Amino acid sequence: MKTIEILAAVKDMQKRSDKMRCQGKTIVFVPTMGFLHEGHLSLIKEGKKHGDDMVVSIFVNPTQFGPSEDLETYPRNMERDLDLLRKEGVNAVFTPDADEIYGEKYQTYVELEKLPNHLCGLSRPVFLKGVATVVTKLFNIVKPHVTIFGQKDFQQLTVIRQMVRDLNFDIEVVGAPTVRESGGLAMSSRNTYLTPDQRISALSLNKSLQNAQTLVENGLRDADKIIDTAAELIRSHPETEIDYITICDPETLDDMKTIDRPALMALAVNIGKARLIDNMILKP
Ligand code: PAJ
Repeated sequence: MKTIEILAAVKDMQKRSDKMRCQGKTIVFVPTMGFLHEGHLSLIKEGKKHGDDMVVSIFVNPTQFGPSEDLETYPRNMERDLDLLRKEGVNAVFTPDADEIYGEKYQTYVELEKLPNHLCGLSRPVFLKGVATVVTKLFNIVKPHVTIFGQKDFQQLTVIRQMVRDLNFDIEVVGAPTVRESGGLAMSSRNTYLTPDQRISALSLNKSLQNAQTLVENGLRDADKIIDTAAELIRSHPETEIDYITICDPETLDDMKTIDRPALMALAVNIGKARLIDNMILKP
């Protein structure tokens, strides 16, 4: 197995990136919060097609968690993560601690005007500000040419694309498809919170999206009716508490009433301690 460089200091990571750039390498960057699963690994596999120096970060970013959210209990397993990254042939991993990223006098944040006023941004007011801020910082530290983000976190990907355009980051953003367990549940580090029964209820997220696509294929165009059908299906499963189900424009995230062009259907559901999200592009 190839050795993997493990760096925890901002300066060391920046120096390494400068060196790689001087050597003519194309740096590909996959930011993560660790507790890696096949979804994360698929981003790394995709990334390898786009360059020859693969860098992954593992950092549970405190600024994207609200005060009542799961920052303290967020699952962590650094040794296992490093093993998986070694097996994937990742060249370097950046594993800073919170003090290294946000020193005592920290006061600069990156905020978008419109995209956070939708979907997860409504129930998680600090989430996208925290993501945009940490990803900006990670871009300045890792200095990638290409970065890979999952479509599972569709709003996050949309925010990153917008931010890269708005702030003129010279970085190509690549979106990668959602990896699912055999029953259709989207892989997530937070799935570990689910009991076996809750796991069965969690299958209703993807089922309701699949069902929505069938309704659209059969000619239904009324977004509200499709949302109501999905809500009913999810509510018929124990312990599900819907945060939102939305059908919206995939770029602006503005609500759509009629599905007369490809539309994003996105949902968030609380099941026990887990807040789960999923989405699908509905195609008429
Ligand atoms: P995390 O939840 O660890 O996810 C890291 C990356 O993996 C994100 O781009 C996410 O969309 C992708 N991902 C997660 N589950 C996936 C799945 N089932 N299939 C495909 N890709 C999947 O997202 C974050 O961390 C953080 O917000 C971060 C961007 C690192 C900023 O802190």
